[in-house]
Amino acid sequence: MIEKISKPDDLFTIALEEIAKATGAAKHEFHTFTLGTVNRGFPHLRTVVLRKFEPESVNVLFHTDIRSEKINHLQECSQVSLLFYGYTLRLQVSFNGIAGIEKDPELTQYQFENSSADAQKCYAYGTQPSSIIHSKTKEELQPDIQLPLSANQLSTAKENFVVVRIVPDKCDILCLHYSGHIRVRANRTPEGWVSEFVTA
Ligand SMILES: Cc1cc2nc3c(=O)[nH]c(=O)nc-3n(C[C@H](O)[C@H](O)[C@H](O)COP(=O)(O)O)c2cc1C
Repeated sequence: MIEKISKPDDLFTIALEEIAKATGAAKHEFHTFTLGTVNRGFPHLRTVVLRKFEPESVNVLFHTDIRSEKINHLQECSQVSLLFYGYTLRLQVSFNGIAGIEKDPELTQYQFENSSADAQKCYAYGTQPSSIIHSKTKEELQPDIQLPLSANQLSTAKENFVVVRIVPDKCDILCLHYSGHIRVRANRTPEGWVSEFVTA
């Protein structure tokens, strides 16, 4: 990888290419990422699956339950941080940006319909994510929820399912190498992304 990097933009391009590859590849090290939200001044981190990446706009999309705490956080404060780390890639990519629920109903429907039946089932439960339950799992509470979902269960799942779109405006990339780590910072400007090398 290091031999392909002569200018800052080369590393930015490599990072975006790896994220693009990871969308449909469950084994790719960037297939999941850490999402940071802020709530009442405290940071909150969790893992989510990268579901779509739009390279031209550098937008990152993931799926979640509209009733989840992360959605409450985003409604209070839309500023997020994302972290991708690939141990074998020796690459760390972090973004800062603004997140919100996807507004395009056709894209949301497409993403739901192209999710696995098991993934769709996760959204069919009546218990709100993070609520206290008196059994080990939500599946034990609602054993009637089985595949294939009934029409009612499918409609509940669709109501709870949302796509979150993240529009990053800053990116920090660290490429680890024994001869010296390479670090690039990139900023979105009205003219496009502008990147520069910074001390690693
Ligand atoms: C490997 C992995 C992938 C996950 N993917 C997602 C995901 O795509 N969307 C999601 O809402 N939660 C996902 N989760 C669960 C979240 O990490 C988190 O526990 C859950 O969404 C509740 O977070 P919240 O209370 O901050 O909303 C994943 C967890 C793991 C370990």
